[in-house]
Amino acid sequence: MKKLLTFILPMLILSSCTANNSQSDKHTSRTITPGDNNVLVAYFSVTNNTEKLAEYAKEYLQSDIFEIIPTQEYTAADIDYNSDCRANKEQNDESARPEIKYTISDISQYDTIVLGYPIWWGQAPKILYTFVESYDLSNKTILPFCTSGSSPIGSSATNLAKSAPNAKWLEGKRFPSSADKEEIGSWLDQNLQKEEGVKNMKLLIDDIELNVTWEDNDSVKSLKQILPLTIRMHEYGGFEQTGAIGKSITKNDSQIDVVPGDVVLYQGSAISIFYDNSSWSYTRLGHINLSKSELNDLLNKSEVILHLKGE
Ligand SMILES: Cc1cc2nc3c(=O)[nH]c(=O)nc-3n(C[C@H](O)[C@H](O)[C@H](O)COP(=O)(O)O)c2cc1C
Repeated sequence: MKKLLTFILPMLILSSCTANNSQSDKHTSRTITPGDNNVLVAYFSVTNNTEKLAEYAKEYLQSDIFEIIPTQEYTAADIDYNSDCRANKEQNDESARPEIKYTISDISQYDTIVLGYPIWWGQAPKILYTFVESYDLSNKTILPFCTSGSSPIGSSATNLAKSAPNAKWLEGKRFPSSADKEEIGSWLDQNLQKEEGVKNMKLLIDDIELNVTWEDNDSVKSLKQILPLTIRMHEYGGFEQTGAIGKSITKNDSQIDVVPGDVVLYQGSAISIFYDNSSWSYTRLGHINLSKSELNDLLNKSEVILHLKGE
C-alpha cells in the first residue's frame, strides 16, 4: 500500500486521464492479417495516450498495428486507481492474466515488435503479460515503450521480458502523452534502425528474390535504415522501372551511364532499375546479377512491385 501511495500525487495531475474517451468507439481492431512489413506495433491503451503514440509509430514505420483489446474492457470504475478498482487488484495479483479479445493470425511474419503500454503502479498492466505469453516470440526483437503520468519505465519492461525470455528485448523508453510524431520517429530511428543497419538488404521484384551486389555508400546505408520498403514501380522510357520511395534519403548524384541490372537512386527519393542502357544523373545503389534478356522478361512490363527487406 505504501508503494501505491507514492504514485497518488503524480497521478492526481493526470486528471485528464479518464476512461470516458469512449472505449467502444475506438475498439474496432480485429484479427490482423500480416502485410509485407516485418515490424508490428502492438499496444494496450485505455485512455488513448499510448494509442496515439502507437499510431505515430505505425505511421512512421509504415507497419501493421495491433491493439491489445481486453475481452472485458476496462470501464472508468475499473481504472479508478484511488479505489479498490479492477486494475489495482490485477496489478497486485501475480497470477492475473486478463483475457485478450483478438489474436494475431501469424506472428511469424514479424521480426520486430514495438510494444506500447501505460504504466500501472510502476509496471506494465497484466494484460501485457497475457500478450507476451500468448505467442512464440523467440528471436524476435521487442522494443518497449510506455506512457505514464510521471513514472519512468523503470522495471516494467525488464519484468515483462521475464515472461518472454527468448525474445531480444531492447531498452524501452517512457514518453509523456504529449510526445509528438517527430519524437517517436527519432526514437525509432535510433533503436530499430540500428538493428536494420547491420542486416543485409534483400531485393524482390514481384516476389522473386534477386541476387544483387550492393554499393558500399551512404545512400545504401540510408536505404537500409528505412527497411522494409514496398515500392510500386512503373515502366519508363523503354529501359527502366521507376518508383517513389516515399521519403528522401542520402544522395550523391552524378551523370552516369547505366547498363541493364543497375539499381540507382533518382533525385534522392525514387529508385530506378534498368533493363536497357541509359544515361542520367543518379546515385548508384547496386547491380542485379541477371542477363539482359532475364532482366527484360522481369522488367519490361507496365509495372512491377519492388520489395526491399532486411535479413
Ligand atoms: C491503474 C492505474 C495506475 C497508474 N499508475 C501510474 C504510475 O504508477 N505512475 C504514473 O506515472 N502514472 C500512472 N498511471 C497513469 C497512466 O500511466 C497514464 O495516464 C497513461 O498515459 C495512460 O495510458 P493510456 O491512455 O494509454 O491508457 C496509472 C493509471 C492507472 C489507470
